[in-house]
Amino acid sequence: MALEWNDRFAVGVDEIDNQHKELFKRVNSLTDAMMHKRGKDEIAGVFKFLENYVIAHFGMEERCMARYNYHDEAAHKVQHNEFIKAFNELKKRYDEVGASSDVVVMTNSKLGGWLRTHIPVTDKALGTFILSLKAEIGRLAV
Ligand SMILES: [Fe+2]
Repeated sequence: MALEWNDRFAVGVDEIDNQHKELFKRVNSLTDAMMHKRGKDEIAGVFKFLENYVIAHFGMEERCMARYNYHDEAAHKVQHNEFIKAFNELKKRYDEVGASSDVVVMTNSKLGGWLRTHIPVTDKALGTFILSLKAEIGRLAV
């Protein structure tokens, strides 16, 4: 079942929202492929995408937190690091056994959980913080 991006997931900072939308697209494409029994064909592309994404996207959020002295930086980074750890374990399993059904299902489930929990709660709190700073001191770079 596809999880469509909507305002509930918007953190209000375009640079962050655009990258999140890209992740939604990827996850939905994997889910769709799985429903059509093509999940195993899609998974290599998902891992390749995630390898770059976690570095670029988490890096951007973390630079932002550091730059603006975000009060919840440590807890937010813990969640990023837990995701990276889970991703590395899935990737290791993929490298060992290839595109097995369990790797496809576990990866999809991990990503779906991330979209449903990290983005609307943890990232949204960061977005709210950035927006409040912007309101106070004008335009800020992320
Ligand atoms: Fe985040």
